[in-house]
Amino acid sequence: MSARLRLPSSPSARLITGGDYLRFANRLLATSHVAHGQGFSNAQEETLTLLGAATGLPWEKLPTCFQRPLSEKEKNRFVELLDCRVFDRTPTAYLVGEAWLGGLSFSVDPRVIIPRSYFVELIPEVIPHWLPPSDSIKRIADVCTGSGCLAVLLAKKFPRAKVDATDLSHDALAVAQINVTKHRLQKRIKLHHTDTMTALKGGPRYDLIISNPPYEPEGIYRRLPAEFKKEPKQSLVSGKDGLDVIRKLLTQATSLLQPQGILVIEVGGLRKKMEKAWPKLPMLWLSTADGMDCVALIQASDLQKARTVSPRTRRRI
Ligand SMILES: C[S@@+](CC[C@H](N)C(=O)[O-])C[C@H]1O[C@@H](n2cnc3c(N)ncnc32)[C@H](O)[C@@H]1O
Repeated sequence: MSARLRLPSSPSARLITGGDYLRFANRLLATSHVAHGQGFSNAQEETLTLLGAATGLPWEKLPTCFQRPLSEKEKNRFVELLDCRVFDRTPTAYLVGEAWLGGLSFSVDPRVIIPRSYFVELIPEVIPHWLPPSDSIKRIADVCTGSGCLAVLLAKKFPRAKVDATDLSHDALAVAQINVTKHRLQKRIKLHHTDTMTALKGGPRYDLIISNPPYEPEGIYRRLPAEFKKEPKQSLVSGKDGLDVIRKLLTQATSLLQPQGILVIEVGGLRKKMEKAWPKLPMLWLSTADGMDCVALIQASDLQKARTVSPRTRRRI
């Protein structure tokens, strides 16, 4: 939290109720051109969340403060949070220490990326459609787990599965541990500090491997809004062309999947690059609500059959 406020602690004598402060905050965020998309899709979702943090009210009770005067403490806290959001460009999820995905709450701080994966749409029904019945799924890997959010969603969807979750960042794994404990899944989710799936080689094979890896090319990262640069760079960038981690994953998954297993990878804007780099590997692009369709489903049998050479690496997968 910033020591010195750039907003006056009482921005106007006319601001009295929670509703007044909310309207003020919405205008402020709009005119400051803050970027959304880190767990929140618009200003209103962010200002309501910050008001909740300032008043201590849960989301469903927030309307109770819209018509009543805010206390001095609530006003000061709200203005302080807005100040950090607007002038430091600190993402709202970091300010409140929490992000929501798939109806579940996850602890977050600047050690991890804020959860916002397309997998939240795909884990409930689309991915299970490509697998045997969910209670027969025994082993799952979540590669590049970050806060552990997808490992938790998977463990809840596949109640008999053990989930191995990997990350290269000790910091991210510390946050993932908090979330695994928060959702009481310590017995079923194991965290591994490793590059992609390296530490999992030689172990049992997986029915399902998913990954939301870093996939931004360096050049795109440089142009991202300031808010996104508050997240760990390693969680967003993967080499010059964005494909570094994906290349490793495709190679490693080939020998780590069950014969009927599937690999599902989110690749952002890299769909065309993927198809160009692995022209003979069948990839099914799963459809998502916003039409991005940037999550590839690849079957183990196709990975095995592929005799494709990635033009950049000259490596077979
Ligand atoms: C886009 S984030 C995804 C986090 C989480 N799965 C989610 O959806 O919110 C990518 C994560 O991959 C991790 N990472 C980057 N390079 C890696 C590598 N070579 N091996 C394993 N993890 C890596 C980063 O530390 C980061 O936590």
